[in-house]
Amino acid sequence: MAEQVAMEVGQVQGDEEMVVDDFQEIEALAELGVSAADVKKAKEGGFFTIQSLIMNPRKRLHAVKGLSEAKADKMLEAAKKLTSLRRLHAVKGLSEAKADKMLEAAKKLTTAGSWISGAEAMQKRARDIVKVTTGAAALDTLLGGGMETKAITELYGEYRTGKTQLCHTLCVAVQLPIAQGGGAGKAAYVDTEGTFRPERIRSIAARFNLDPDAVLDNIVVGRAHTVDGQMELLQAVGAKMVEEPYKLLIVDSIMALFRTDFTGRGELAERQQKLGQMMALLKKISEEFNMAVVVTNQAMSDPGGGMAFISEEFNVAVVVTNQISEEFNVAVVVTNQVMSDPGGGMTFVADPKKPAAISEEFNVAVVVTNQVMSDPGGGMTFVADPKKPVGGHVMAHASTQRLYLRKGKGEQRVAKVVDSPCLAEGEASFALSDDGVVEYKE
Ligand SMILES: Nc1ncnc2c1ncn2[C@@H]1O[C@H](COP(=O)(O)OP(=O)(O)O)[C@@H](O)[C@H]1O
Ligand SMILES: [Mg+2]
Repeated sequence: MAEQVAMEVGQVQGDEEMVVDDFQEIEALAELGVSAADVKKAKEGGFFTIQSLIMNPRKRLHAVKGLSEAKADKMLEAAKKLTSLRRLHAVKGLSEAKADKMLEAAKKLTTAGSWISGAEAMQKRARDIVKVTTGAAALDTLLGGGMETKAITELYGEYRTGKTQLCHTLCVAVQLPIAQGGGAGKAAYVDTEGTFRPERIRSIAARFNLDPDAVLDNIVVGRAHTVDGQMELLQAVGAKMVEEPYKLLIVDSIMALFRTDFTGRGELAERQQKLGQMMALLKKISEEFNMAVVVTNQAMSDPGGGMAFISEEFNVAVVVTNQISEEFNVAVVVTNQVMSDPGGGMTFVADPKKPAAISEEFNVAVVVTNQVMSDPGGGMTFVADPKKPVGGHVMAHASTQRLYLRKGKGEQRVAKVVDSPCLAEGEASFALSDDGVVEYKE
């Protein structure tokens, strides 16, 4: 199955190139005496690879229906043994028998888990990481070569800044051979806003000289209408990825359904918890299958300096006093008089802990003033970039890197690296066209 699909991808690209993946299907456990029935149960429980057994907490495996804890533990041990053996078997000039013997000896000598040196880590990254072109050279350069695998890249920006267009372009570009800036793989697209457009894919495919029909065949789309539906699609995606060479997973948009399914402050904690679980799953998928995971997110335009954002996010009415905002050139959030006010005229809600919660949630500086407007501890002025991605701390920490997209003149769009473990903060222009994301020319 996997080979056949790889052939199809290869045919599209006119090239047989394939990425060697790290993951192993869970069926391989049969080699170590795990029964087919147990393997089947694990798959029903959402475990499709040897790696998923190792990467998930043991308790999740224990929770699989019909699998006893003893059997689950046996499975996990077998998975660990198999991954070690596989690495040893790959060593040139070492017979399998010798490799097995070495592994046994190594186990006796060390209890070390999986520490590797920095140099080894660098080699491993160079070998594994694939970078997929965005369609615009300047943007690729900003990203250090393109959209990379084993990472979650968050694209955030206002409406019509090109998030969805970039996602479409990546779905095509990922199918190019690696030598041409692709990932020699397929794409999976979780569409939560109903904005996936096959016809856009077709015109972008033509621009890369790929057969539009074949390119469409190499993209799977899942439409989600609820957060639960979105989660189910993502939990099922592993089953596809073990069978076929996927290199890109899009979630467009990650937050939209969370914002409709959970409203008001009362549901915020639950929303953030579920969001955290989803992001953790995405992170695992990105590493387990060496995938580029790209999620889009809304940014709130906020002419009032924090207000529109807060009122939308918390579903409350927000009133601005201009006295303080003029003095400090910032926006101030004030509840109306109905609410109790432990903070001296400016608390958001009755709960005095709220300012801290807001600052945490939105990663903005909250300056709390008392009546004389100068006390960092009693009121609430918002000073920060007025355009913020939604999702709060959970999103901020879960994304490997964030790209802020904004409109320029006409077709011009500007991307800015906001948060990345290894990219400098900088900007790049690109343009939107019938060909998807293209070079911006002044
Ligand atoms: N076929 C096309 N040709 C040129 N530009 C297009 C085409 N389709 C969409 N666009 C551009 O893409 C913009 C919408 O971008 P989109 O990626 O949908 O934004 P969002 O950030 O909201 O997802 C439109 O405003 C338009 O400028
Ligand atoms: Mg969109």
